[in-house]
Amino acid sequence: MVPSGSPILSILLILLLSPFMVSLPIQDRLLKCLPKYSESSFPFSTILYTQKNSSFISVLQSSAQNVRFTLSSVPKPEFILTPLQESHIQAVVICSRKLGIHLRVRSGGHDFEGLSYVSEIETPFIVVDLAKLRSISVDIEHNSAWVQVGATNGELYYRISEKSKTRGFPAGTCSSVCMGGQISGGGYGVMLRKYGLAADNVVDAHIIDVHGRLLDRKDMGEDLFWAIRGGAGGSFGIVTAWKVKLVPVPSAVTVFTVTKTLEQGATKLLYRWQQIVDQLDKDLFIRVQIQTANVSSQGKRTITTSYNAMFLGDANRLLQVMKHSFPELGLTRQDCIETNWINSTVYIAGFANNTPPEVFLQRTYPNREYFKAKSDYAKKPVSEKALEGLWEKLSEVESPLVVFTPYGGMMSQISESQTPFPHRKGTKFMILYYTGWLDAKENVAKHIDWTRMVYNYMTPYVSKNPREAYVNYRDLDLGMNNNSNASFVEASVFGTKYFKDNFYRLVHVKTKVDPDNFFRHEQSIPPLPLHMR
Ligand SMILES: Cc1cc2nc3c(=O)[nH]c(=O)nc-3n(C[C@H](O)[C@H](O)[C@H](O)COP(=O)(O)OP(=O)(O)OC[C@H]3O[C@@H](n4cnc5c(N)ncnc54)[C@H](O)[C@@H]3O)c2cc1C
Ligand SMILES: *[C@@H]1O[C@H](CO)[C@@H](O)[C@H](O)[C@H]1NC(C)=O
Ligand SMILES: *[C@@H]1O[C@H](CO)[C@@H](O)[C@H](O)[C@H]1NC(C)=O
Ligand SMILES: *[C@@H]1O[C@H](CO)[C@@H](O)[C@H](O)[C@H]1NC(C)=O
Ligand SMILES: *[C@@H]1O[C@H](CO)[C@@H](O)[C@H](O)[C@H]1NC(C)=O
Ligand SMILES: *[C@@H]1O[C@H](CO)[C@@H](O)[C@H](O)[C@H]1NC(C)=O
Repeated sequence: MVPSGSPILSILLILLLSPFMVSLPIQDRLLKCLPKYSESSFPFSTILYTQKNSSFISVLQSSAQNVRFTLSSVPKPEFILTPLQESHIQAVVICSRKLGIHLRVRSGGHDFEGLSYVSEIETPFIVVDLAKLRSISVDIEHNSAWVQVGATNGELYYRISEKSKTRGFPAGTCSSVCMGGQISGGGYGVMLRKYGLAADNVVDAHIIDVHGRLLDRKDMGEDLFWAIRGGAGGSFGIVTAWKVKLVPVPSAVTVFTVTKTLEQGATKLLYRWQQIVDQLDKDLFIRVQIQTANVSSQGKRTITTSYNAMFLGDANRLLQVMKHSFPELGLTRQDCIETNWINSTVYIAGFANNTPPEVFLQRTYPNREYFKAKSDYAKKPVSEKALEGLWEKLSEVESPLVVFTPYGGMMSQISESQTPFPHRKGTKFMILYYTGWLDAKENVAKHIDWTRMVYNYMTPYVSKNPREAYVNYRDLDLGMNNNSNASFVEASVFGTKYFKDNFYRLVHVKTKVDPDNFFRHEQSIPPLPLHMR
């Protein structure tokens, strides 16, 4: 018998117990840790989903926009946490770090490569899903709004319009994209030529850093505040809310869509559009959506180019602007839909005519499909001959979509280094190459190869050194961090495409705020390697 209280017993106990302690299931350790760093009485088991939970798959898929990353072959998180308030996020950052659980953060799940909910290499991982952090408070008197990251574009637009018919916000065209990822990577919509990006209109933010601290602009400092407005999500911390500046919109705006096929002179017209589009009146945004269509029941195909536009003014003034700047389109009064700003956002988002804006409150995600996409920036017009070559490439896949989005206006007035988003002066338009499909049996590689082939074909006609790309159109073909030992050299390949020289400042900020690279993914900003600090 060993007398109680003896040091030998204590040592024995420690030896016996410690292996047991560490082998407690990770779930139990997480549930034990979380309340220590949040309200102690909060039942975290009600917001933590494990793989065994019957709702696990539906919660995981709830906002996964690219169906490719929901297949059973894709790695699944060990846990999903759905925080209800900021303190829950603070706790999960601290506990994931302590327990060595890799963390991914998701707001709206629109990441083209699924990085907000899939970790290919690092396991186990937890998805912190911010869909429930979606409150919006609009302050018309001060021309601003606080919007939490899980709120969608549609919800923000609707809440602004409830309070004022002459205020808006220049975020994306797609109504289900969320504020979290979108503003982190820039965020453009039909008002970018007048007011710049969503990120250009952010005046304050709340972020939870790697130590679990909740910081506002003053606390985080101007370097980090700069980095999070365009440096892309998942590298610096977890943003919980943005304070945005509202912008004036006229009570009457005008939208239209005019479609021309090859037979109607689409190629020449698109060449003309490219020459003038970045010089147009700032109130006017005309993007071109390029698709293929059947001409006849015999399967003969053509190219359709749809000029999809929004004008910050009434139809009469629009017709004058068009007559002066782009008469070749032949816009008529009958083509024009004069409406208010909120209805124009419903139209631009692609809902059927006369859909009431309340559709934005349903937060549904229509038309989810499998897709692969890439982006480019054009500095000069793509010649008619080159366009004809592009039309041939488009006929090699079933339902391709190429979109030319005009820049110029305010986009050229903001300097390249004002935010991390560098595609400013000298950019005529952005290009999106997209292929989507619905059938799970479709060959994924075929579609991926197609986007690579088109991208390859376009090389001579777009930006070079670096070949620029939009970080919110994430594309893993551009390069990847290998693993937690993110390599600065590897990352600078994709990093300079997305951010040009701003990449180096982003690395600098990252090194300061998260030197151990806790917040990371395949294309996150790496900290400087130790020997370079
Ligand atoms: C159908 C569709 C339409 C689109 N239309 C537009 C458009 O009109 N304009 C435009 O600019 N873009 C558009 N995009 C791109 C979109 O802006 C990006 O995919 C954006 O990153 C999505 O944000 P999210 O919160 O919905 O996505 P998520 O997948 O949740 O997040 C994207 C990235 O940001 C990180 N992240 C998410 N939340 C946070 C947070 N709170 N703090 C820190 N990091 C975070 C994620 O980890 C991930 O790396 C579109 C995308 C799709 C799929
Ligand atoms: C699933 O997880 C949720 C959230 O933690 C919890 O409320 C629910 O009881 C769980 N259901 C099952 C069947 O485990
Ligand atoms: C076009 O024609 C092809 C061949 O006849 C057919 O398979 C396809 O479904 C048609 N597409 C559309 C959009 O009608
Ligand atoms: C906006 O759309 C709603 C729903 O279709 C319609 O009732 C309303 O009249 C529209 N407003 C304007 C100004 O067009
Ligand atoms: C990652 O690193 C390993 C070992 O350093 C190497 O073998 C592998 O090719 C790298 N993978 C990528 C995608 O770079
Ligand atoms: C990272 O690098 C360290 C030291 O070189 C090595 O021990 C470790 O295994 C690497 N980690 C990964 C995930 O490759």
